[in-house]
Amino acid sequence: MKLNIIKSLQKNKNIVFLADKIDDLKGKLSNDDFNYFRKYWKDEDMQYVKSTNGYIFVVKTIKKDLDKIRRAAFSTHDTLKKHYKEVTVSGGNSEKMLAFAEGFLLSDYQFLKYFKDADKRRNTIKKLELHGTITQKDVNDLQNLIESVYWARDMVNEPVSFLDAVQLAEEIKAKGKATNYKVEVLGKGKIESLKMGGLLAVNKGSEIPPTFSIIEYKPKNAKNKKPIVLVGKGVVYDTGGLSLKPTAHSMDLMKSDMGGAATMAATIDALAKNKIPVHVIGLIPATDNRPGKTAYAPGDVITMFDGTTIEVLNTDAEGRMILADALAYANKYEPELVIDAATLTGAAVRALGTKTSISMGNAKDVYFRKLYQSGQKTNDKVFRFPFWDEWKSELKSDIADMKNLGGPNAGMITAGKFLEHFVKYPYIHIDIAGPAFLETANSYNGKGGTGAGVRLLYQFLKDL
Ligand code: BES
Ligand code: ZN
Ligand code: ZN
Repeated sequence: MKLNIIKSLQKNKNIVFLADKIDDLKGKLSNDDFNYFRKYWKDEDMQYVKSTNGYIFVVKTIKKDLDKIRRAAFSTHDTLKKHYKEVTVSGGNSEKMLAFAEGFLLSDYQFLKYFKDADKRRNTIKKLELHGTITQKDVNDLQNLIESVYWARDMVNEPVSFLDAVQLAEEIKAKGKATNYKVEVLGKGKIESLKMGGLLAVNKGSEIPPTFSIIEYKPKNAKNKKPIVLVGKGVVYDTGGLSLKPTAHSMDLMKSDMGGAATMAATIDALAKNKIPVHVIGLIPATDNRPGKTAYAPGDVITMFDGTTIEVLNTDAEGRMILADALAYANKYEPELVIDAATLTGAAVRALGTKTSISMGNAKDVYFRKLYQSGQKTNDKVFRFPFWDEWKSELKSDIADMKNLGGPNAGMITAGKFLEHFVKYPYIHIDIAGPAFLETANSYNGKGGTGAGVRLLYQFLKDL
């Protein structure tokens, strides 16, 4: 869907008015419509109303909660999506209009690649016209950002029958070429010569080689002297390996286990398209995790990229194995900050559900504060968990430097502590296992891959 700024309103179109107070609508509507909306306005909880003929909407923007506007945009989109080609939004200020456009665009996402009758299923809206005080630059930036979110969603929705580790690297490479940033893909040979033991161990049960993608976006006017490194978990499918996932249906969604990879690649893509002056490096270790004949086994001791030895006590704790190597690899850039995003633990989902990601780490508080604020602003939320060293003791092994499994409780934190061991620089770990993939739609986040973390990290890095 295209966004398009217009100078004057045309009557007889689907128009959404954004209004703080009922008087904002004076002179814009027929008397009948005005009276109709005024009746609803008194309702405290009113968010949006559609007119009786169904093609004029009013969204109440009085509360400065931009997410209410995004959600109202979802509702209007839901009503209009299959009937009209163009919709116009008018009024509000630039911030509110952008929030509406953002919600509207996010709601228009569809993953139709595998439907025979895809054309019939496609939403009909082709254009959202914006009537108000809004700049072309804001509009372009928003369009680019949402395009990157779409890309992340596409990758998460793609099954492993298409998106294996090699294909994931191809996608990233192609995007880098299209947007114009550097992508280097290390293949199995190079990964072996670098001795990335964690990534290779997880890959042992697979027929398909692992990949390690290195993305770099370095604008000349970057504000940071040292890069920020973004690491994304790229497990393109997680069966659990020999410690096969135990319960019914627990494997059904595991094509989404590369959600962290999608988030980080798409975040960098958005930063680059919008020319945000920040130097970032993305590291994407990728493989599937399968119980093949030569699969790594519980009890194995693995020597990781940085020389640490790991006793594997559960092959389903594979995300930390591949991330550890990428995090250790990040040290060579002497980064200002290292952030990873990963669908890492079921514990994170059980703790906070699907409406927020969980952050933890040892970076200065100010980074966490800013990250939290970015989450509130975008409603791509994140909530900080504690990270005391006491949890580290759960990772002690009898025969190796660490084991890959903590105790039965607080699994999201022991996983984070495991990862921290490999990072020599300020570090934030984000567990996106909850919001990355939804089985029931949540407004404009839709069903399936959500692109969770892209808008969050884009905002965070832009504001930094
Ligand atoms: N990919 C899973 C985590 C996950 C679970 C993501 C549910 C999304 C939804 C991860 O690799 C995993 O299996 N984690 C285990 C770790 C355990 C064996 C220590 C878990 O959380 O159960
Ligand atoms: Zn697993
Ligand atoms: Zn996993």
